Amino acid sequence: MLQTEKHYVQWHDQDTPQQTRWLSESKQPPPAKIVLVDDQTTADHAYRLACEGNSLVWRGDFHNARQLLQAMTRRIERTAQRRASKAAKSNKPAAEAKQMPNLFHQQRHSQAQRASILSRLLLQLDAGYVSRLRRAPELSAACTAAFGELDEPCLISLRDVQGALGAAQWRAKGVAIADLDLSIYPHYGVFAPTRHEYVQLLLQAPLPPVHDVAFDIGTGTGLLAIILAQRGVPQIIATDLNPRALTCAQDNLQRLGLTTVQLQSADLFPLASPPANLIVCNPPWLPAKPSSPLEYAVYDANSAMLRGFLQGVSQHLAPQGEVWLILSDLAEHLQLRSREQLLGWIADAGLLVKYRLDTPAKHGRSQDETDPLFAARSAEVTSLWCLQVTE
Ligand SMILES: C[S@@+](CC[C@H](N)C(=O)[O-])C[C@H]1O[C@@H](n2cnc3c(N)ncnc32)[C@H](O)[C@@H]1O
Repeated sequence: MLQTEKHYVQWHDQDTPQQTRWLSESKQPPPAKIVLVDDQTTADHAYRLACEGNSLVWRGDFHNARQLLQAMTRRIERTAQRRASKAAKSNKPAAEAKQMPNLFHQQRHSQAQRASILSRLLLQLDAGYVSRLRRAPELSAACTAAFGELDEPCLISLRDVQGALGAAQWRAKGVAIADLDLSIYPHYGVFAPTRHEYVQLLLQAPLPPVHDVAFDIGTGTGLLAIILAQRGVPQIIATDLNPRALTCAQDNLQRLGLTTVQLQSADLFPLASPPANLIVCNPPWLPAKPSSPLEYAVYDANSAMLRGFLQGVSQHLAPQGEVWLILSDLAEHLQLRSREQLLGWIADAGLLVKYRLDTPAKHGRSQDETDPLFAARSAEVTSLWCLQVTE
């Protein structure tokens, strides 16, 4: 089980006292008040109960639970729209609140609220993630792959279960990487390279003349290490802090029969390794606090990983070695970080920019004009910064 600390919930099922294991991948607190709901419960009533802080244990048909979750989602969206138009009529939010980075913080806040309300619709599962609900699908394989073995009953949100079922599908069918004749198989909780504009950059960048050893820092599914191996780098060491990422990368390497990539659990750089001629890193790109383990691939509080990477990288680089930093500039458009700050960190680390390759964002969210962050998202450019140690 990836959750190290076990939490239990004391509650009453009808009149029978229960103590049940609590599982929450998104780190929602154990339920304080539990109400039983079923096919007779209306969406309005369920939504109200959840907004009042109750957790709802579902006792009806499994498919109806899914529909209820969708109905609750629509109610959250309607409430948000009503609030927005009311605020617009009363000339609020003030101009300042409509600006970056406030819009970004507001959006994250409403996403957190939405997650907390929707995560209150719970399933009670037996050991092995078995559901006794009518028309329940087989959950065991997907949930075991996502959350680990479970030898006791649990309460878990339907949302987390849906996340596990969705991840199992990705893992089975894979993500085709358009520029390569390659599919990558993401695991639950690992950054899925569904936006892979940056792959082009990694293919275009000329390898340094000597490229015996490369590091891939924060390897996720292993994609960048795999590309380097396919480009002919004979020895690659790939690190990640997330155990799921290391298992996932191992799976992808095995599927491809690649034996030249060695995986290491490490905070940034590998331990006891030779210096590298090439060090690549695609760090989480938004400087904000991750609110759950699933967000660690996207959010980097205070740009700690980015700054740690830049500060430490020259100690691991062979003479004439290159650093390829892959970084979206979305944080700059959201005014969470400035270009000057980034250039300052590069210079302070004793590095200079040898060249930069750019690619505009092409993913769906960058084209969605209804997104409050559209101005920032549509301007996003991802770059490969080729850095070298200043002579
Ligand atoms: C944006 S994802 C990139 C994944 C992969 N390299 C790719 O391009 O598809 C960032 C990765 O960095 C990892 N990570 C975050 N902080 C780290 C750290 N301090 N040391 C090692 N890996 C870290 C995350 O677990 C995640 O897998």
